[in-house]
Amino acid sequence: MTILPGATIGVLGGGQLGRMIGLAAHRLGYRVAVLADAPDAPGALVADRVVVGALDDAAAAATLGREADVVTLEVEHVDPAAAAAAAVHAPLRPGLLALRTARDRALEKAFLVAQGAPVGPHAVVETDADLLRALAHTGLPAILKTTTEGYDGRGQRSVCSEAEAVAARAELRGQRLVVEARLDLALEVSVIVARGVDGATIAMGPFENAHRDHILDVSTYPAASLDPVRSREAITWAGRLAAALDLVGLLCVEYFVTRDGRLLVNELAPRPHNSGHLTIEAFAASQFEQLVRAICGLPLALAQPRSAAVMGNLLGDLWTDGDPDWVGALAVPDVHLHLYGKRAARPGRKMGHLTALGADLAEAVARLRTARAALRDRSLSQRAAGSAAGRGAPR
Ligand SMILES: Nc1ncnc2c1ncn2[C@@H]1O[C@H](COP(=O)(O)OP(=O)(O)O)[C@@H](O)[C@H]1O
Ligand SMILES: [Mg+2]
Repeated sequence: MTILPGATIGVLGGGQLGRMIGLAAHRLGYRVAVLADAPDAPGALVADRVVVGALDDAAAAATLGREADVVTLEVEHVDPAAAAAAAVHAPLRPGLLALRTARDRALEKAFLVAQGAPVGPHAVVETDADLLRALAHTGLPAILKTTTEGYDGRGQRSVCSEAEAVAARAELRGQRLVVEARLDLALEVSVIVARGVDGATIAMGPFENAHRDHILDVSTYPAASLDPVRSREAITWAGRLAAALDLVGLLCVEYFVTRDGRLLVNELAPRPHNSGHLTIEAFAASQFEQLVRAICGLPLALAQPRSAAVMGNLLGDLWTDGDPDWVGALAVPDVHLHLYGKRAARPGRKMGHLTALGADLAEAVARLRTARAALRDRSLSQRAAGSAAGRGAPR
């Protein structure tokens, strides 16, 4: 049954992804309810109704479900029991299989292996003896990752020796871990697929992703460093994995391309993804609009790119000398600012992003570079202010 505009979309999670889901939903005429940890969370600030609660609060999730016609999620750290409590009252899209699989790295790896998807050497460990066996298999250097709740590189330790690995396991409080060989990466890319209730899919990407300190720094479209064969492979696997999860909504597949040329699946996210933010300006429909369409049973939009684009994250580190110079950044042509409404700027915290478009990728990248430099340097905004409507800004 189609869930038509005017109905209420419930979102588990109140972060920036929930905020951008809410903005897209509003544009299509839906109401939005969110489960957020605070009334001023980024997603809560744009919602019609806020249920304040944690992502493992089953009673709060049930309240959200009762108020919604369909429930989706913006993070995979939702407790499956809470998601199930919401799903009693409204369809949960994506469903519990996708949530359970993506929130636990061990289950995710097992799923990928079962599907025959290409993955790097890895093992699941619970004890020091397991750990030493795992390292014999993966080799060194290796990366230890907690199975749940890691993000933006949190819950990960890179190790170069057995002794370091044992110490790192202790630091990670001896939780169940996935140990991976630390791969020699040529590049990282991602594909986001939207899959409808009827199983129809569209793919966005591949996007090329550069990380800094394990946090996404910049994403570009097109992925200029990826060859066409691997690009098709990445799209094919994303569609296949979404179907295998029987997922309705979005699936982002993060990939590694190793220096010896292998395309490997890194991880899955059954939700909008940071690497797809540039779809807001650069595609005929954004990842957020595609999500709304998918979960409501509406036709998916064409995934038609309109422009080359590059997205750069704005982390809290930028705020060390007060507010960045927004005026200067916006004086750069075809640069678009997104701020998430977070009050406290902490280092490493995603506060917003910039997307720059261009006639080609080189132009988009040059504009992003200029805009980012302007954030820390007031001279551009002074030039913009000195000329009517910013006409003195660099072209
Ligand atoms: N096995 C690995 N080999 C090399 N680099 C890795 C490996 N695992 C993670 N990384 C780097 O760390 C980043 C974050 O790791 P990821 O597993 O995607 O966790 P999350 O995005 O949840 O923090 C990756 O995008 C990649 O840059
Ligand atoms: Mg990742």
